[in-house]
Amino acid sequence: MDIVGARLLVVGATGGLGGLVAGLAADRGARVVPAGRDVGRLAAVARRVGSPFSQTFDAYDLDRCSALAGRAAEHLGGLDAVLVAIGAVAFGRVEDVPAEIEEHLMAVNALAPIAVLRGALRAVGGGGAVGAVTGIVVERPTASAGAYRASKAALSGWLETARLEQRGRAVGVLEARPPHLATGFAERAVAGVLPRLPAGSDPAPWAAAVLDGLFAGAELVRPDSGDGRTPRAGTAARAASARRPGRG
Ligand SMILES: NC(=O)c1ccc[n+]([C@@H]2O[C@H](COP(=O)([O-])OP(=O)(O)OC[C@H]3O[C@@H](n4cnc5c(N)ncnc54)[C@H](OP(=O)(O)O)[C@@H]3O)[C@@H](O)[C@H]2O)c1
Repeated sequence: MDIVGARLLVVGATGGLGGLVAGLAADRGARVVPAGRDVGRLAAVARRVGSPFSQTFDAYDLDRCSALAGRAAEHLGGLDAVLVAIGAVAFGRVEDVPAEIEEHLMAVNALAPIAVLRGALRAVGGGGAVGAVTGIVVERPTASAGAYRASKAALSGWLETARLEQRGRAVGVLEARPPHLATGFAERAVAGVLPRLPAGSDPAPWAAAVLDGLFAGAELVRPDSGDGRTPRAGTAARAASARRPGRG
């Protein structure tokens, strides 16, 4: 799919990664509608991408989440691609994380993205693409991130089924699994103590890889099995074989 003139909705454009994707897409000639929770940051992103139309929402309003793509399509006269880049994290051993924190992570990381994508699959035409950001944590259990991993794994499972179902319509379903990125996301954890983490990777190449992957119809963007930091696009099957013992 050609990005020039493409109509793209970025949900979570107020975030570090989503903002970079939205800005890059606009620079490359896409018509971008940003959606986010923070009103001030959303206005700044809308200015950055030159959109007179933007949408606020909260992850807990699932009806509004599922209506975002339809409203963007009304504004743009159709919709070619949707990316969901919202998320929240909390830390703590699995036996210590309170139920309300687990519920919050499930709402922000699974239920809201699923609601957005449900609406997106109705709004995006054949040959288009939808995608969401999970994280490499879905492949690798990380101590003190059990609730976060469970919520992202729920989204990952939904995406796999959606991908199967969309083959007949030629709608791409992308899952991006970045490693720890230097966006400040982990430092904004809603609960728990930030564990010792390696320095986050530069989010800019990840934003570019996610955007490229979305428009190329890739299934997965995940870290290269060599250095574990450089983004690499591919198919879900190829990624599974790259993870087999002895393959890195
Ligand atoms: N950074 C990392 O280390 C890392 C690693 C792997 C995967 N990821 C994933 O990458 C995605 C982007 O994260 P990021 O690094 O860009 O972090 P970020 O800058 O903190 O962005 C988080 C985004 O989620 C939105 N959000 C959070 N709670 C929300 C709620 N209740 N309702 C609506 N929106 C809500 C924020 O909206 P507002 O700003 O408008 O409040 C913001 O747009 C997330 O899915 C994250 O899980 C991040």
